[in-house]
Amino acid sequence: MSNQLLRVSGISAGTEDKPILHNVSLKVGSGETHVLMGPNGAGKSTLGHVIMGDPAYQVTDGTIVFDGTDITEQSADKRSLAGIFLSYQAPVEVPGVPLYSYLRTITQKRPELKMTARKFRNRVGEIADQLDMGSSFLTRELNVGFSGGEKKKIEMLQLLLLRPKLAILDETDSGLDVDALSVVSRGIEAYRKDCDGALLVITHNTRILERLTVDRTHVMVQGRLVAEGPGSLIDNIDAHGFEQFEHEAEDGGAA
Ligand SMILES: Nc1ncnc2c1ncn2[C@@H]1O[C@H](COP(=O)(O)OP(=O)(O)OP(=O)(O)O)[C@@H](O)[C@H]1O
Ligand SMILES: [Mg+2]
Repeated sequence: MSNQLLRVSGISAGTEDKPILHNVSLKVGSGETHVLMGPNGAGKSTLGHVIMGDPAYQVTDGTIVFDGTDITEQSADKRSLAGIFLSYQAPVEVPGVPLYSYLRTITQKRPELKMTARKFRNRVGEIADQLDMGSSFLTRELNVGFSGGEKKKIEMLQLLLLRPKLAILDETDSGLDVDALSVVSRGIEAYRKDCDGALLVITHNTRILERLTVDRTHVMVQGRLVAEGPGSLIDNIDAHGFEQFEHEAEDGGAA
């Protein structure tokens, strides 16, 4: 079986009236950790949403293959069941749905995660402890009234419960205090190691990466992937910023 889990080939996409991504290609192997960096407005979140199948964006060219299947036309729901997970930069609030019921529902949809109610309760409790989350979280409505940092922890809880094959984490670190950052980065490390999941981490903050070994770094500027390199490319970006890549974007990006 191929080690290649995700293959994005020549994707161009945008909203109805605005092209955002231009000829984007990217490969992620099973269990690999990739980082996607780029200035504000470059199109990083859009790429995450397009891989997840968000209907707000239209793909005008290219293909996305996940785990051997062409998913370019698939619904987000199907992609989620196939093992893709996207943590949102700004998680949505869902009034009327308690977090615990939501977690039970999404788990029951996955045959590979079938477990008794008791086992489920224990597993959720275990993960909540691991993430330093109080048990009162679980009876509250999904994301309603939670602080920014708490919402990020709820996403980590879903990640560790669902054990997807690929997790796209969109600025999961933004707005976290130092303690929460350390809890969340331990959660990501647990996902990488215990679930052997692949990661595409979208971030501006390299602290979230400290516990991870980065296999590949991708740089996006103006909707194009303009550079790709090893983990050490992150240090270069930290030191010199994105300006060094800007002429690449104007020339049409990396091949
Ligand atoms: N649903 C949408 N409707 C209109 N414009 C959009 C939509 N989604 C994204 N855009 C635009 O596309 C561009 C890329 O946005 P995106 O959120 O992907 O950037 P980003 O690289 O994630 O930036 P940041 O680092 O600030 O999160 C921006 O100019 C944004 O305004
Ligand atoms: Mg973004």
